[in-house]
Amino acid sequence: MELLRDYKVGIEGVCGGSCDCATCHVVVAADWAARLPEPRSDEIDALDTLPLIEPNSRLSCQIIWSDDLDGLTLTLAEAA
Ligand code: FES
Repeated sequence: MELLRDYKVGIEGVCGGSCDCATCHVVVAADWAARLPEPRSDEIDALDTLPLIEPNSRLSCQIIWSDDLDGLTLTLAEAA
């Protein structure tokens, strides 16, 4: 989320990454989804507050960047 926010691509990240606002919603490309750690229950709960999610929806603030994610493909979700 912080990387996306720094690049000013349209991620708000209102709660600063505390998994509370879901304004960092992204949809991870299918070939990458299984390579990420499973979402925790609080991430799932926050995603469930959104009007529209997809199977590969994630909160970008919960994706901890590492070199293993180099090339990660995702799409910014539509604003609610
Ligand atoms: S920045 Fe608020 S849930 Fe991700």
